[in-house]
Amino acid sequence: MYNSKITGLGYYVPENVVTNDDLAKIMDTNDAWIQERTGIKERRHVIKGDDTTTSMGVKAAKIAIERAGIDKEDIDFIVFATLSPDYYFPGPGVLVQRDLGIKTVGALDVRNQCSGFIYALSVADQYIKSGMYKNVLVIGSELHSHGLDMSTRGRSVSVIFGDGAGAAILSREEDNAKGILSTHLHSEGQHAEELSLIAPGMGKRWVTDIIADNDADDESYYPYMNGQFVFKNAVVRFSEVIIEGLKSNDLQASDIDLLVPHQANLRISQFIQKKFKLGDDQVFNNIMKYGNTTAASIPIALTEAWETGKVKDGDLVVLAAFGSGFTWGSAIIRW
Ligand SMILES: CC(C)(COP(=O)(O)OP(=O)(O)OC[C@H]1O[C@@H](n2cnc3c(N)ncnc32)[C@H](O)[C@@H]1OP(=O)(O)O)[C@@H](O)C(=O)NCCC(=O)NCCS
Repeated sequence: MYNSKITGLGYYVPENVVTNDDLAKIMDTNDAWIQERTGIKERRHVIKGDDTTTSMGVKAAKIAIERAGIDKEDIDFIVFATLSPDYYFPGPGVLVQRDLGIKTVGALDVRNQCSGFIYALSVADQYIKSGMYKNVLVIGSELHSHGLDMSTRGRSVSVIFGDGAGAAILSREEDNAKGILSTHLHSEGQHAEELSLIAPGMGKRWVTDIIADNDADDESYYPYMNGQFVFKNAVVRFSEVIIEGLKSNDLQASDIDLLVPHQANLRISQFIQKKFKLGDDQVFNNIMKYGNTTAASIPIALTEAWETGKVKDGDLVVLAAFGSGFTWGSAIIRW
């Protein structure tokens, strides 16, 4: 059996920086509230026409492919995680295959929101471990900004989310002690609506209902989040799934060199850091600059950590995420 290893990483964020003060000009909020509750100072918003979820993913992917030292034609499969696809269908995986101009490899779309990158990584890892594929392109990308309620009504959600993309190349690794040691995935659909975007969908709010109602005040177009409930579940599930991953590899928290948590909220990361008694240099956070970029947050953070020399050969790197679904997961990696 083979292992899979991350051989290339890349990220892309749009140039347009939106600070907390910028948001305070269009809704009733302020820098102090946002920083105190979330740690976020600024985020990026796509300017319409400049980028899409797919185009950002492609830009990140090109960097990852180059750093992996492979040709784009060496990619055997694409896995794309997002909650903000360019189209209702088809998903962005095939658009990446088209826009990269590569042969007719398979392309799979993952719909697991903030845990999307861990789920996508896990899927790619299984294909490589089974021997089916040698190089898999994994992308997490989100264009949130134009789907948010930017009025005061939506402020508890819209100040948190930002746009961006991250990508990784997973390649076959012969040494089983290296690479992705294991991934751990969970869901609890009982809480599906606690962090959700209901409309349009073929469940509660059909496109035909929306057209018939023609109600400009309809909130179901926008993401809904029960913030405190999400927060309480997140800290528990993050901890559980990190422990599960460590235990399954006979490892302990003290073995962690770098934890790269999904950038949901700086307070959640700090809670986890304290619980596992990790130093400031053992937990990577960049939510201050980018906000919560959902499926893109882990690959953006992991790329920045790698670029700044915080990930070294032989390090134990732990990825963990929690989000809408609820879904959560972890990946235990020997770099
Ligand atoms: C969203 C979150 C920051 C809100 O913080 P909170 O302490 O729970 O705040 P509340 O929702 O209770 O709101 C407190 C007050 O601030 C107000 N408020 C909400 N958003 C605001 C904003 N952007 N600016 C200013 N005030 C705001 C509320 O209206 C409320 O006012 P009230 O007391 O007069 O009713 C927090 O719940 C959170 O981070 N949850 C987890 C989110 C998360 O991780 N999501 C991603 C998961 S992947």
